[in-house]
Amino acid sequence: MLHHDPVREKRKMRTQLIHGDYESRHWDYSHHVIPPLSSSSTFRLDTSHRGAQGFFEYACDQVDPATRAPIFIYDRLDEPTRGMLEDQLAHAEGGDSAVCFASGMAAISAALGTLAGAGHEIVSHHMIYGCTYSLLTRWLTRFGVTIRFADVNDQSALRAHITPATRVVYFETPVNPTLDLIDIRAVADVVSQANARRRPEERIHIVVDNTFASPYGQRPLEHGADVVVHSLTKNIGGFGTDMGGAVVCPASLANQVILFRKDFGAVLSSKSAWPIMVYGLSTLPTRMEAEQRSARQIAEFLCAHPKIVRVSYPGLPDFPQRALAERQMRNYDGEFCPGNMVYFVLKDSDGDFGKAARLVDFVAKNAYTITLAVSLGQIKTLIENPFSMTHSSLPEEDKRRLGVDTGGIRLAVGLEDTRDIINDLAEALQAL
Ligand SMILES: Cc1ncc(COP(=O)(O)O)c(C=O)c1O
Repeated sequence: MLHHDPVREKRKMRTQLIHGDYESRHWDYSHHVIPPLSSSSTFRLDTSHRGAQGFFEYACDQVDPATRAPIFIYDRLDEPTRGMLEDQLAHAEGGDSAVCFASGMAAISAALGTLAGAGHEIVSHHMIYGCTYSLLTRWLTRFGVTIRFADVNDQSALRAHITPATRVVYFETPVNPTLDLIDIRAVADVVSQANARRRPEERIHIVVDNTFASPYGQRPLEHGADVVVHSLTKNIGGFGTDMGGAVVCPASLANQVILFRKDFGAVLSSKSAWPIMVYGLSTLPTRMEAEQRSARQIAEFLCAHPKIVRVSYPGLPDFPQRALAERQMRNYDGEFCPGNMVYFVLKDSDGDFGKAARLVDFVAKNAYTITLAVSLGQIKTLIENPFSMTHSSLPEEDKRRLGVDTGGIRLAVGLEDTRDIINDLAEALQAL
């Protein structure tokens, strides 16, 4: 759990994400300039009493983790390098606690698995990342959880989908891949009305996947969400070297999430936590600013291109949810932060998947700056076709209805010179 340091917290977040804590209850590293990388699957215990105390205190509601140094027992339970990253992540998101996992999907599974069990219901926004859709429909249903899909931006539809068995409202914002936004505050208003009549154990929690915006660009907890999940593999890791995931949650939920991780076992390895913390999180503001500057110019170039019918980027003046984008997507200094993702649709590609495939294949063969690959938030610009790749698990008619077109292309903007990215796109479009 995060410890509050008034001296550190006087500094700007950009500074804090580089320096972190000089002291950590996870480890005495006050003489390191860079936090150490721990690598020990198990830990020496001086006495069996200390071992017993460690097991008793582990994820124990009677022990305050903000003041009590952990007793390390075994990597899958707790581990110093990962613990330091967790403190930094909780701070970055403005939450009490962060719990790190082996991947974003492991984090989403843990958040939902902790909050919903047999007989419960989850209301999910109808457009979500393909593997999350598959987790909900293929696996959670096997554990007796009912999934209801709705447009959670439509308050009356959301209200109609909430039943006494609902425990979670789940969504991404921006939505992958269309970049539609969900109004977190409006969802929170509906959910808090429903919660007013419920006992604490029946409370509905709002879980937001903040992978696309990153905590630099948006902090859902400030807008009324209860839990944030992340794929650390993306913007936070930043360099595309390591997989990871995180659940940021209130102190009241943290022990359950930690126990879920202990038993399901998908811990983040210390060897992945270290680069995510040392290289990734510390450079997040700098990378996001530069990538977002490029993304805006690329979106403007695409808007003006005759072979493109639609461009979705929250930073464009005519983005349909521009007012919401400006309200919700703000960096730590309060500046508008529309992000580094662009989604665009080729003209005359309705029902014709071949056109987008031809463009992306041309890029794969000829472009130097743009790589055909899934994932996002790396220093290298990546391109993919969501209809047939990242969102292949979703039913075709839902994709078409919700704007994931056959001619849709997702661009995850990296740190290359913007002019080179635009030139590569221009060449590919010309060849079409
Ligand atoms: C929005 C979003 N959430 C979650 C995930 C899953 O993360 P991971 O690949 O780290 O499991 C992804 C992966 O692409 C994603 O795009």
